[in-house]
Amino acid sequence: MKKYLVIGNPIGHSLSPKIHNFWIKNNNINAVYEKKQLNKEDLKDLISKIKKKEIDGINVTVPFKKDIFFYLEEISAEAKYTKSVNTIYLNDNKITGHNTDIDGFKFAIKDTKFDVSNKKIFIIGAGGVTPSIIYALNKMKVSNITLTNRTRTKAEKLKDQFNYLKVVDWGVIPDFDMIINATSVGLKEDDNLNLDFTKSKNDKFYYDVIYNPKETNFLKMGKKLGNKTENGKKMFIYQAAASFKVWHGIEPEINEELIDILDD
Ligand code: ATR
Repeated sequence: MKKYLVIGNPIGHSLSPKIHNFWIKNNNINAVYEKKQLNKEDLKDLISKIKKKEIDGINVTVPFKKDIFFYLEEISAEAKYTKSVNTIYLNDNKITGHNTDIDGFKFAIKDTKFDVSNKKIFIIGAGGVTPSIIYALNKMKVSNITLTNRTRTKAEKLKDQFNYLKVVDWGVIPDFDMIINATSVGLKEDDNLNLDFTKSKNDKFYYDVIYNPKETNFLKMGKKLGNKTENGKKMFIYQAAASFKVWHGIEPEINEELIDILDD
């Protein structure tokens, strides 16, 4: 039986086992997908199990998407460029890292029918998922991307990586067509960004990477101001689908049943 894992710290909240095991069962694959909480010191040992074929694939989540680089023998161009790996497998006998968050975001946005081409994008937060979002948006030919982060130096660092970014101070709200919350603010029901969006017009698109809770205060406010809103659930599903394709060579089906079981 093949074995797959998602690793992170904490990991209790991860819905990856639910989604992968659903597809494993539906496609009659002899495999199991589990979650494992670990510490940075455990990474080396665990990754070596890929080489020994004791584990067939690993998803990596917060806070290890960068730390993992050190143990990889091959890294895809996109993962290198975004300095972020979330999918690991053995390819040509080499421990290989890939980034499926980029496709996850891209396909999720396509599903919303909001055409981002030539649009002005405002991203809040410079955490782990932000480079993948910037990379995807640039490929989707947006007009420009403005970034703000509570800790400005972290946003500046991303500008070194993506020189077309514009960085603004926390609290400054530029003109935008689409605004993305890529911070962890909202994971707790009563979390609030404390930014004032009331001056922006009401025909914008508010996107939150967070999908649990379903509607963060950021999305609630966007909706109240009369804007289109979307949470990060589809992004999560599509990044999982892309990992599944890498490991099993099968495009898994994304249907209502799947969306429902994630809500349970
Ligand atoms: P990491 O920073 O380890 O990559 P993350 O969950 O991917 O972790 O990112 C957290 C993001 O949420 C960061 O942009 C963080 O801002 P800082 O860089 O200033 O820490 C942001 N964030 C977390 N709590 C916040 C808060 N109360 N207000 C504003 N931004 C916050």
